[in-house]
Amino acid sequence: MCGIVGYAGNIETACGKPLEVCLQGLRRLEYRGYDSAGVALTAPGMDHVEVRKKAGRLSNLVDDIERKPMPMATVGIGHTRWATNGVPSDVNAHPHTSMDGKVAIIHNGIIENASQLRLDLQAEGYRFSSNTDTEVAAKLLGKIVDTIIADEGRPDLFRAVRRLARMLKGAFTILATDCRQPDIIVGARHDSPLVVGLGDGENFLGSDVAAFVAYTKRALEIDQDQAVCVSASKVVVTDFYGNVVENPKTYTVDWDASAAEKGGWDSFMDKEIHEDPAAVQRTLLGRFDKNGDLNLDEVHIDEHDFKAIDKIIVIACGTASYAGLVAKYAIEHWVRIPVEVELAHEFRYRDPILTPRTLVVAISQSGETMDTLMALRHAREQGSKVLAICNTQGASIPRESDAVLYTHAGPEVAVASTKAFVAQITAAYVLGLYLAQIKGTMFRDEIHQILSGLKDMPRKIQWVLDTQAETIQKAAESMVDANSFLFLGRHVGYPVALEGALKLKEIAYTFTEGFAAGELKHGPIALVDEGEPVVFIVPPERGRNVLHAKVISGIEEVKARGAYIIAVAEEGDKDVENYADVVFWRPKCPTLMSPLVDVVPLQLFAMDMAKLKNYDVDKPRNLAKSVTVE
Ligand code: AGP
Ligand code: GLU
Repeated sequence: MCGIVGYAGNIETACGKPLEVCLQGLRRLEYRGYDSAGVALTAPGMDHVEVRKKAGRLSNLVDDIERKPMPMATVGIGHTRWATNGVPSDVNAHPHTSMDGKVAIIHNGIIENASQLRLDLQAEGYRFSSNTDTEVAAKLLGKIVDTIIADEGRPDLFRAVRRLARMLKGAFTILATDCRQPDIIVGARHDSPLVVGLGDGENFLGSDVAAFVAYTKRALEIDQDQAVCVSASKVVVTDFYGNVVENPKTYTVDWDASAAEKGGWDSFMDKEIHEDPAAVQRTLLGRFDKNGDLNLDEVHIDEHDFKAIDKIIVIACGTASYAGLVAKYAIEHWVRIPVEVELAHEFRYRDPILTPRTLVVAISQSGETMDTLMALRHAREQGSKVLAICNTQGASIPRESDAVLYTHAGPEVAVASTKAFVAQITAAYVLGLYLAQIKGTMFRDEIHQILSGLKDMPRKIQWVLDTQAETIQKAAESMVDANSFLFLGRHVGYPVALEGALKLKEIAYTFTEGFAAGELKHGPIALVDEGEPVVFIVPPERGRNVLHAKVISGIEEVKARGAYIIAVAEEGDKDVENYADVVFWRPKCPTLMSPLVDVVPLQLFAMDMAKLKNYDVDKPRNLAKSVTVE
């Protein structure tokens, strides 16, 4: 969950750079965890690793360093924490050190056998100052280094970290530094991400490329159960037993550091909502051949295998799972095969029915969500093919999948997912229409017509952003004191209602519930009282859309009980105008395309509400951007 950064330079080039890189990297990674932050620096001649750490936001650490500057160094490691073991505090913040202060480590994940290891070490006289699992690893690493020195007369941090990694259970990425080897940083990973950035006369480490993309775009992924030793001029990758990995795969990051900057916007969330149109557009780009048919050669699943698919199971969490639920309505309609959508953590621990003809689709913005990663491993073990829909190049989920369809939303920094959601729906629609194309379940013209509707969506989303912002802001102002909201929708409006409820809950800390509108009379209507705000996603009215009439009946029913109605509806919908207190309008579009626009006012509404309450919309309390623990 946390952010990890590391820098290795040499005495000529480094000077203040390790600290600069660590603080820069932490600033970019702060969205991953933000309850405390710390750095450790090492240089030749030091008799201990210089550690500085502070509870709270990164700015606390920066202020502290400004007050009392840190020494020049050759290597540095930095950490922004999302506490799992022990409250957020100065002592629990990382880095943690060995007993003699010569070794320091930072850690992402949870060490499951920490309690036992702690007891063993305490019995040997080791003392602990924090409640973290990480400090246990730090003390143990110190002990291993001391043993190696006693046996061989010199330290060997790389070997020591590998030995440590073999002793730890649970999930971890660890970076370690030792003042007796001030030219290297050693890392190891198990079920948690680690990427190396390859520079010129300097090298970098990060929990994702955002940590170092301002310095280099050449990256190398460290695979599951691998360790890495990084110096200014060399990167050596091994498994946990010291076997060297020859020619590990490198790649070039396909976005600029500026993409992860606010670029004049008030918040990342603001910027990212306004990138909704571009996220859809970029996700469609390059996926057509010259005849306008879909071409998914990049996915590397053979056409024959695709044709044989008779069931899809989408696994995902949170917002990504709602994108999957939207896709279910469309893909079942287009391809005529069953699509199940399941929360990854529920899927993993039951006994799902999977066959080689089941395609499991793992949707994840970060590509690092542990619940989704575990579920995909489970699916592959059962012999199913897994296709990832992912926004992060080279992350664990796409790397461990059989195939990947990237969403090209660009880096998403705000913790609340916005542009990734519309990009995920777009990618899942592309997948569905491609299946319809190769399975022949629809006429070519029909597919082309739907695709042209999809290509038109960025313009329609833009219309919502351009014309509805003021109404939404006013609505937020009038409802800022409301204690709870209900969100209701039918068909594809149902997952949109769930997503609208999640957004408001996440960043405005308002109690919300999303329901299928058809459930209203089966329970939720009991919550409706005078003035209770109820948000309805109203389907298009065209033709004899029975769903439209049914949603309008639902509105009437709650209105009769005094509810305050907020509707997301199609321009010119007279019924809605009659009943709703506030309407966020959408331009006309086919029903299956409507989620791409309907979610946009709900994203803006949640953001406006949170800002009115003076909350940090980018970093909501208790949440982290990527949930890398189960
Ligand atoms: C979205 O606003 C949430 N913060 C969260 O539900 C998120 O969508 C979920 O954790 C899945 O993340 P992923 O897409 O990176 O796998
Ligand atoms: N389990 C560690 C702790 O609570 C690491 C948490 C993290 O990944 O930030 O300190």
